[in-house]
Amino acid sequence: MIITNNDRRRGLVLQDIALVISAAGIIFTAGVFLFVFFNSKKDEEYAPIQRKWYKVRTVWFVVLIALIMIASAGTLRQLPYFADPEIRGYDITRVDVEAFQYGWEMSQLEFEVGERYEFHVTSRDVNHGFGIYNEDAELLTQVQAMPDYTNVLYHTFEEPGTYEILCMEYCGIAHHMMITEIFVREPGGSIDES
Ligand code: CUA
Repeated sequence: MIITNNDRRRGLVLQDIALVISAAGIIFTAGVFLFVFFNSKKDEEYAPIQRKWYKVRTVWFVVLIALIMIASAGTLRQLPYFADPEIRGYDITRVDVEAFQYGWEMSQLEFEVGERYEFHVTSRDVNHGFGIYNEDAELLTQVQAMPDYTNVLYHTFEEPGTYEILCMEYCGIAHHMMITEIFVREPGGSIDES
């Protein structure tokens, strides 16, 4: 797999973001501990404190439930399971994929932008991983390729170009050689239009 400078830069930015978030979390947690520590010596009536914080807890519970419902409504629909054409009722192109040591046998290598594809992925021998990578070496989607079982993966390409199928499961000595190029073109056009 080729890692470009763009990928490196993106990786570094993500690392910086992770560092800042972690540092903020650590400082906040330390602050809570210090607050509790310095207030633990004070003598106070228990009942009013209990009443107050039980109320806070109830409000927090309602807020959490609301957040979970909002997050679920916004993200559950993006799950690929709902892309099943029998549920949605649209045209789809079936693509058969068979993994083997060491390569991919696919019923087609050329694809079209905007077309919906249904990959039927299985394996001739051992477990492999079917992963589709774009030209920036970003993983777009993936599914297990298993012997005696067919996994179905739905995908629609958004950009023309040369993509790569890579194996994502260590499957033997030449696992890294399980690379197949596929070509995605604009509808009715060539792949060079990108
Ligand atoms: Cu097939 Cu790794």
